Amino acid sequence: MKPVIALTKGRLEKQFLQFFKSLDYDVEPLLDKGRKLQIETSQFSFFFAKGVDVTTYVENGIADLGVVGGDTLIEHKPDVYNLFPLPFGQCRMALATKANYEWPNRKKRIASTFTNITKDYFKEKGESVDIIRLEGSVELAPILGLADAIVDIVETGTTLKENGLVIEDEFLSFSARLIANRSSLKVKRDQLVPVIERFKEGARKK
Ligand code: PRP
Repeated sequence: MKPVIALTKGRLEKQFLQFFKSLDYDVEPLLDKGRKLQIETSQFSFFFAKGVDVTTYVENGIADLGVVGGDTLIEHKPDVYNLFPLPFGQCRMALATKANYEWPNRKKRIASTFTNITKDYFKEKGESVDIIRLEGSVELAPILGLADAIVDIVETGTTLKENGLVIEDEFLSFSARLIANRSSLKVKRDQLVPVIERFKEGARKK
Protein backbone atom coordinates (compact mmCIF):
# COMPACT_ATOMS: atom_id res chain seq x y z
CA MET A 1 0.00 0.00 0.00
CA LYS A 2 1.21 3.50 -0.86
CA PRO A 3 2.02 5.94 1.95
CA VAL A 4 -0.99 8.09 2.84
CA ILE A 5 -0.38 11.83 3.22
CA ALA A 6 -2.93 14.27 4.68
CA LEU A 7 -2.64 17.81 3.34
CA THR A 8 -4.06 21.01 4.78
CA LYS A 9 -6.58 22.58 2.41
CA GLY A 10 -6.30 26.18 1.26
CA ARG A 11 -3.27 28.41 1.43
CA LEU A 12 -0.77 25.67 2.39
CA GLU A 13 -2.05 23.47 -0.44
CA LYS A 14 -0.58 25.61 -3.23
CA GLN A 15 2.68 26.15 -1.40
CA PHE A 16 2.96 22.42 -0.70
CA LEU A 17 2.42 21.64 -4.38
CA GLN A 18 5.31 23.88 -5.39
CA PHE A 19 7.54 22.27 -2.79
CA PHE A 20 6.44 18.76 -3.75
CA LYS A 21 7.16 19.51 -7.41
CA SER A 22 10.70 20.52 -6.48
CA LEU A 23 11.24 17.02 -5.02
CA ASP A 24 10.69 15.48 -8.49
CA TYR A 25 7.72 13.40 -7.46
CA ASP A 26 4.79 12.81 -9.81
CA VAL A 27 2.50 15.82 -9.22
CA GLU A 28 0.30 15.57 -12.31
CA PRO A 29 -2.88 14.23 -10.60
CA LEU A 30 -2.66 17.00 -7.96
CA LEU A 31 -2.58 19.85 -10.46
CA ASP A 32 -6.20 19.83 -11.52
CA LYS A 33 -7.96 18.19 -8.61
CA GLY A 34 -11.11 20.36 -8.68
CA ARG A 35 -13.24 19.70 -5.58
CA LYS A 36 -11.95 16.16 -5.10
CA LEU A 37 -10.79 15.42 -1.56
CA GLN A 38 -8.68 12.35 -2.38
CA ILE A 39 -6.03 12.10 -5.05
CA GLU A 40 -3.85 9.14 -6.01
CA THR A 41 -0.45 9.78 -7.54
CA SER A 42 1.85 7.01 -8.71
CA GLN A 43 3.67 7.09 -5.34
CA PHE A 44 1.17 8.36 -2.74
CA SER A 45 -2.45 8.52 -1.65
CA PHE A 46 -3.28 12.10 -0.69
CA PHE A 47 -6.33 13.54 0.99
CA PHE A 48 -7.22 17.10 1.90
CA ALA A 49 -8.67 18.35 5.18
CA LYS A 50 -8.68 21.36 7.51
CA GLY A 51 -5.46 21.72 9.48
CA VAL A 52 -6.76 20.50 12.81
CA ASP A 53 -8.43 17.52 11.11
CA VAL A 54 -5.13 16.65 9.42
CA THR A 55 -3.66 16.19 12.91
CA THR A 56 -6.63 14.00 13.92
CA TYR A 57 -6.24 11.76 10.86
CA VAL A 58 -2.48 11.43 11.45
CA GLU A 59 -2.91 10.86 15.17
CA ASN A 60 -5.35 8.02 14.44
CA GLY A 61 -3.17 6.41 11.77
CA ILE A 62 -5.51 7.09 8.84
CA ALA A 63 -2.66 9.09 7.32
CA ASP A 64 1.00 8.13 7.76
CA LEU A 65 2.23 11.67 7.19
CA GLY A 66 0.65 15.11 7.31
CA VAL A 67 1.44 18.65 6.30
CA VAL A 68 0.09 21.18 8.76
CA GLY A 69 0.72 24.71 10.00
CA GLY A 70 2.92 25.06 13.09
CA ASP A 71 0.13 27.15 14.65
CA THR A 72 -2.20 24.13 14.63
CA LEU A 73 0.40 21.98 16.39
CA ILE A 74 1.04 24.61 19.08
CA GLU A 75 -2.69 25.13 19.62
CA HIS A 76 -3.86 21.50 19.65
CA LYS A 77 -0.75 19.56 20.70
CA PRO A 78 -1.67 16.33 18.86
CA ASP A 79 0.08 13.09 19.76
CA VAL A 80 2.15 12.76 16.56
CA TYR A 81 5.80 12.96 15.58
CA ASN A 82 6.43 16.61 14.78
CA LEU A 83 9.25 15.90 12.31
CA PHE A 84 10.64 19.16 10.91
CA PRO A 85 9.75 22.54 9.42
CA LEU A 86 8.89 22.79 5.74
CA PRO A 87 10.09 25.79 3.73
CA PHE A 88 6.67 27.44 3.30
CA GLY A 89 3.71 28.72 5.30
CA GLN A 90 5.85 31.11 7.35
CA CYS A 91 3.56 33.03 9.73
CA ARG A 92 3.63 34.90 13.03
CA MET A 93 1.11 35.02 15.84
CA ALA A 94 0.07 38.55 16.67
CA LEU A 95 -2.10 40.54 19.01
CA ALA A 96 -3.84 43.20 16.90
CA THR A 97 -6.29 46.02 17.53
CA LYS A 98 -7.91 48.90 15.70
CA ALA A 99 -5.39 51.66 14.97
CA ASN A 100 -5.17 54.18 17.87
CA TYR A 101 -7.47 51.98 19.95
CA GLU A 102 -8.11 53.18 23.48
CA TRP A 103 -8.41 50.11 25.68
CA PRO A 104 -11.44 50.38 27.98
CA ASN A 105 -10.94 50.27 31.69
CA ARG A 106 -12.29 46.75 32.22
CA LYS A 107 -11.23 43.15 31.60
CA LYS A 108 -10.01 42.83 27.99
CA ARG A 109 -12.01 40.81 25.48
CA ILE A 110 -9.84 38.95 22.98
CA ALA A 111 -11.24 37.09 19.95
CA SER A 112 -9.30 34.22 18.45
CA THR A 113 -9.44 30.85 16.81
CA PHE A 114 -6.34 30.01 18.85
CA THR A 115 -7.85 30.04 22.32
CA ASN A 116 -5.09 27.96 23.96
CA ILE A 117 -2.33 30.11 22.48
CA THR A 118 -4.24 33.22 23.57
CA LYS A 119 -4.73 31.82 27.09
CA ASP A 120 -1.02 31.00 27.41
CA TYR A 121 0.05 34.38 26.06
CA PHE A 122 -1.97 36.35 28.62
CA LYS A 123 -1.17 33.91 31.42
CA GLU A 124 2.52 34.58 30.85
CA LYS A 125 1.79 38.28 31.11
CA GLY A 126 -0.11 37.65 34.36
CA GLU A 127 -3.22 39.16 32.84
CA SER A 128 -6.75 37.79 33.09
CA VAL A 129 -8.81 38.30 29.92
CA ASP A 130 -12.06 37.03 28.43
CA ILE A 131 -11.44 34.94 25.33
CA ILE A 132 -14.07 34.74 22.62
CA ARG A 133 -13.67 31.85 20.23
CA LEU A 134 -14.31 32.52 16.53
CA GLU A 135 -13.86 30.14 13.61
CA GLY A 136 -12.56 32.61 11.02
CA SER A 137 -12.49 36.21 9.78
CA VAL A 138 -11.53 37.15 13.34
CA GLU A 139 -10.48 40.62 12.13
CA LEU A 140 -14.18 41.52 12.19
CA ALA A 141 -14.40 41.20 15.98
CA PRO A 142 -12.67 44.49 16.98
CA ILE A 143 -14.21 46.32 14.05
CA LEU A 144 -17.74 45.30 15.00
CA GLY A 145 -17.14 45.73 18.73
CA LEU A 146 -17.29 42.06 19.75
CA ALA A 147 -13.76 42.20 21.16
CA ASP A 148 -11.04 44.71 21.99
CA ALA A 149 -8.39 42.84 20.08
CA ILE A 150 -7.58 39.61 18.28
CA VAL A 151 -4.86 37.00 18.45
CA ASP A 152 -4.38 35.60 14.98
CA ILE A 153 -1.87 34.45 12.41
CA VAL A 154 -0.27 37.05 10.20
CA GLU A 155 1.41 36.02 6.98
CA THR A 156 1.70 39.02 4.65
CA GLY A 157 -0.13 41.48 6.94
CA THR A 158 -2.57 42.33 4.15
CA THR A 159 -5.72 41.24 5.99
CA LEU A 160 -4.88 43.40 9.01
CA LYS A 161 -3.97 46.38 6.84
CA GLU A 162 -7.03 46.19 4.63
CA ASN A 163 -9.25 46.07 7.70
CA GLY A 164 -7.61 48.94 9.57
CA LEU A 165 -5.99 46.82 12.29
CA VAL A 166 -2.46 47.17 13.62
CA ILE A 167 -0.12 44.78 15.39
CA GLU A 168 0.32 45.46 19.11
CA ASP A 169 2.65 42.53 19.72
CA GLU A 170 4.11 39.58 17.84
CA PHE A 171 5.02 36.54 19.87
CA LEU A 172 5.44 33.31 17.89
CA SER A 173 6.72 32.48 14.46
CA PHE A 174 6.35 29.16 12.68
CA SER A 175 6.03 27.48 9.28
CA ALA A 176 4.32 24.42 7.88
CA ARG A 177 5.60 21.16 9.40
CA LEU A 178 5.78 17.53 8.38
CA ILE A 179 4.16 15.28 10.97
CA ALA A 180 3.96 11.48 11.17
CA ASN A 181 1.83 8.88 12.87
CA ARG A 182 3.81 7.26 15.67
CA SER A 183 3.18 3.61 14.78
CA SER A 184 3.40 4.15 10.97
CA LEU A 185 6.95 5.27 11.50
CA LYS A 186 7.75 1.88 13.06
CA VAL A 187 5.56 -0.44 10.98
CA LYS A 188 6.15 1.23 7.60
CA ARG A 189 9.66 2.39 8.35
CA ASP A 190 11.26 1.09 5.10
CA GLN A 191 8.62 2.82 3.04
CA LEU A 192 8.46 6.11 4.94
CA VAL A 193 12.09 6.86 5.79
CA PRO A 194 13.13 7.51 2.14
CA VAL A 195 10.14 9.85 1.72
CA ILE A 196 10.92 11.71 4.92
CA GLU A 197 14.59 12.00 3.90
CA ARG A 198 13.62 13.40 0.51
CA PHE A 199 11.32 15.97 2.13
CA LYS A 200 14.06 16.87 4.61
CA GLU A 201 16.66 17.28 1.88
CA GLY A 202 14.24 19.42 -0.17
CA ALA A 203 13.49 21.58 2.89
CA ARG A 204 17.23 21.97 3.59
CA LYS A 205 17.92 23.17 0.04
CA LYS A 206 15.29 25.94 0.14
C1 PRP B 1 -5.63 33.72 7.98
C2 PRP B 1 -5.62 34.55 9.26
C3 PRP B 1 -5.73 35.96 8.74
C4 PRP B 1 -5.00 35.87 7.41
C5 PRP B 1 -3.61 36.45 7.55
O1 PRP B 1 -6.93 33.56 7.58
O2 PRP B 1 -6.67 34.17 10.11
O3 PRP B 1 -7.07 36.31 8.56
O4 PRP B 1 -4.89 34.51 7.06
O5 PRP B 1 -2.93 36.43 6.32
P1 PRP B 1 -2.25 37.73 5.72
O6 PRP B 1 -1.40 38.32 6.79
O7 PRP B 1 -1.43 37.22 4.55
O8 PRP B 1 -3.33 38.66 5.24
P2 PRP B 1 -7.36 32.55 6.42
O9 PRP B 1 -7.15 33.15 5.08
O10 PRP B 1 -6.65 31.25 6.63
O11 PRP B 1 -8.91 32.43 6.64
P3 PRP B 1 -9.83 32.57 7.96
O12 PRP B 1 -10.03 34.03 8.19
O13 PRP B 1 -11.09 31.87 7.58
O14 PRP B 1 -9.11 31.90 9.10
